[in-house]
Amino acid sequence: MRLKLIASLVALCVSGLALADVPLRDRAKELFEPIPSAPPAIPGETATPQKLALGKMLFFEPRLSEIRDVSCADCHNLSMGGVDGGALSGGHNGQLAGREVLTVMNAIFNKSQYWDGRAADLADQVVNSVMANPKAMLKTRGGPMPINPTEHAAAKQRAVEQFKAIPGYVSAFKQAFPEQSDPVAYDNIGRAIALFEATLITPDSPFDRWLKGDDQALADAQKEGLKLFIEKGCATCHNGVNIGGAMYARFGVVKQPAPDYLPPDDWGRYAVTKAIADKYAFKVPSLRNVELTAPYFHTGATFDLKKAVAVMGESQLGVALSADETDKIVAFLDSLTGHQPEVVLPILPPRTAPPIAQAQ
Ligand code: HEC
Ligand code: HEC
Repeated sequence: MRLKLIASLVALCVSGLALADVPLRDRAKELFEPIPSAPPAIPGETATPQKLALGKMLFFEPRLSEIRDVSCADCHNLSMGGVDGGALSGGHNGQLAGREVLTVMNAIFNKSQYWDGRAADLADQVVNSVMANPKAMLKTRGGPMPINPTEHAAAKQRAVEQFKAIPGYVSAFKQAFPEQSDPVAYDNIGRAIALFEATLITPDSPFDRWLKGDDQALADAQKEGLKLFIEKGCATCHNGVNIGGAMYARFGVVKQPAPDYLPPDDWGRYAVTKAIADKYAFKVPSLRNVELTAPYFHTGATFDLKKAVAVMGESQLGVALSADETDKIVAFLDSLTGHQPEVVLPILPPRTAPPIAQAQ
């Protein structure tokens, strides 16, 4: 009897983790998907090299903003996981307190854009964003900035006129949209930037390699962290290809977080839907590359990922995670860091005087 027991124990050890992984991987495959190795297509768009080149230029272009001083890349730093390191956001600078920057990496896989989902897709995000005065975006709490539609349209028109006055851009737009007679148009700015953003994906993370069958890709603690992530209930909200980005949830399902995490004046998704059920609901953020995107939460309330995990356990699930459990979950989260896109900096057309007196 005892011999038999020992024999089966030995067999278990010999078969090793490879076998033990199988059920965990099966469960994980039902919940998560790896990031594809090639950028996904945007329906109705063809990503020509000319459109991608223009989109990249515009992403790095400070002249897109009304006061010619801030580009997408300033807040979405591609050397820092697509965020700004907390310098401009999260209340670390009293004047700029507002919502924390969300990363552009893998944003193409989110069901909607922004913490409250007020933009339907990447092109919509650009066209209806407040690029006219992007800094104002960081100053607002409580959802969409009240944009005066007339002013917004005028600001977009000024941006278009500015690009029309720069010969390098006129030809870049022509090459990107050869079928159009008047290609320097704001919608095309949105389309080109969206196509470029769709290339900002981070495949091949250790977790994705493990999901595809490489048993060695995750350390044991990371596998245990994954198991906890599933069994404690984190994956009910953070799932799919982006391990998030697919739904909204109230921050504070079980327990209201402290006001620095959930200030009473930002009602989140409610500002978009006006539905009471959406009060304090936010988009479940993607946890891809989360080790690179501190500070965390829509407020940027903490730089400490362990703290963020502990807050989630308490507020969303009503569980006090032990230090060991938190460490293992964080070890798993670290395995979500993928291969960062290698972006060759674009050379932007030379400066010209602004076509109109500088606004502001
Ligand atoms: C001044 C800083 C700043 C600038 C400039 C800026 N952004 Fe953002 N971006 C943010 C902040 C802050 C958020 C989150 C705001 C919110 O959700 O309310 C955000 C959100 C986004 C999102 C949503 C991501 C998601 O997961 O929902 C995308 C996409 C994005 N920005 C792309 C861009 C592009 C493209 C540009 C240039 C046209 C740009 N941003 C310029 C700060 C900035
Ligand atoms: C009921 C849905 C839900 C559950 C369950 C849940 N989360 Fe979240 N998670 C959210 C929402 C919503 C946010 C955004 C909160 C905010 O800032 O408003 C979030 C934010 C986070 C963040 C911050 C990410 C960032 O980029 O700012 C981390 C990390 C995180 N969750 C991890 C976890 C872990 C680990 C668990 C399990 C212990 C978990 N979550 C359980 C909905 C959930």
